[in-house]
Amino acid sequence: MNGSVLPLDYAETADRDEFRRAVIAGLSARPRAIPAKFLYDARGSALFDEICELPEYYLTRTETMILSQRAGEIGRRAGPGCALVEFGSGSSVKSRLLIEALPDLALYAPIDISRAHLDATAARLRRDYPWLQVLPVCADFMGPVPPIVHDGRLLGFFPGSTIGNLEPPEATAFLRHARRLLGNDGALVLGVDLRKDPQRLHDAYNDKAGVTAAFTLNLLRRMNRELHATFDLSGFAHEASYNPVDGRIEIYFRSLRDQSVTVAGQRFDFAAGERVHTEYSYKYDTSGIAALAKSGGFRIAETWTDPDRLFAVTYLEAA
Ligand SMILES: C[S@@+](CC[C@H](N)C(=O)[O-])C[C@H]1O[C@@H](n2cnc3c(N)ncnc32)[C@H](O)[C@@H]1O
Repeated sequence: MNGSVLPLDYAETADRDEFRRAVIAGLSARPRAIPAKFLYDARGSALFDEICELPEYYLTRTETMILSQRAGEIGRRAGPGCALVEFGSGSSVKSRLLIEALPDLALYAPIDISRAHLDATAARLRRDYPWLQVLPVCADFMGPVPPIVHDGRLLGFFPGSTIGNLEPPEATAFLRHARRLLGNDGALVLGVDLRKDPQRLHDAYNDKAGVTAAFTLNLLRRMNRELHATFDLSGFAHEASYNPVDGRIEIYFRSLRDQSVTVAGQRFDFAAGERVHTEYSYKYDTSGIAALAKSGGFRIAETWTDPDRLFAVTYLEAA
C-alpha cells in the first residue's frame, strides 16, 4: 500500500462534507463548539509548526529534549525490527529522533488528518530516509485506519500533548483503539503535558506574537474558503484561559459585536461576547496519567520528565 488511503479528489470532497456537517451542527448547538481536529488544514498545520517555535510554548522544546535523551532507551525497549505508527504526526519532527534510534526499523506509518501537510512530510521523510518504508495514512485517528501489515512489534507514538485535546472519556477511547491497533505485543510512547503554574500555562496559549490567535482564527478563514462562510475576522478574537478545576486550557473564538454570519447557506447570529469553543488542552499529573493508561488497557513501563517537571513522556506496554 502506498500513499494516502483515498484518491485525493474523492477524499477532499468527503473531508469537506464532514467539515460542513460538523460546523453546522456545532454552530446550531448550545454551547457552540467545533471539534479541534478541524483547526488543521494546510495553513493550520503550518501555524502549528510556528507555535512550536514560540518562546512561550515550552511543550515542544521540553518533549524534544526528553525524547533526544531517551531515544536510545526507547529503541532498546522496543527491540529490533518494529514498525513505528504515529498518531497526529504533523511535520514528524520528533519522529525523526525515534526513526534514527529504533534498531532495524522497517516501516513508519504517520497518521494525520491534514492531508497536504501529511503528503509533504512523507515526501521529505522518503528523501531523508531512503531505506525506510513510509506509509502515510490520512485518517481520523479516533476512527478506523487500515491495518498496518507488519511482521513484528508495532510501536505507537502519540507526542505533542495531542492526547490533551481529547476529553478524558475520548482519551480512554483513543487508547483502547490504539491498543487494539498495536496488538498484544504493542507499545505506545505517549507525550503528556503536566499540571503546573497557571500563569505559565496561560502564556503558552496567549503568545505575544499572536501566532496562537492566528491558529484559532484560521478556522474562520477555513470556513470562509471551504463553506462559503462570511466571517469578518476583525469581528472575532482568540480567547484561551486555564480552568484549574478541570485542569485544562480552554480555547474559543469570541464575537466582538452583535453580528450575523452565513455558513454554507445558513445564517447564524452571534451576540457580542458570545464564544465558540474550539479546543481543550488537558494537563495531567502522575496519578492522572496512570489512571488514563490503565483505562486504555496499557501499563506504564517507564516515565521520563524534565528537571522542571513540565512535560512527561511515558512508555506504555499493552496490559
Ligand atoms: C498538537 S499537533 C502535534 C503534531 C506533532 N505530533 C508534534 O508532536 O509536534 C496535533 C496533530 O494531530 C493532527 N490531528 C488532530 N486531530 C486529529 C485526528 N482526530 N485524527 C488525525 N490527526 C489529527 C493534527 O493535524 C496535527 O498534526
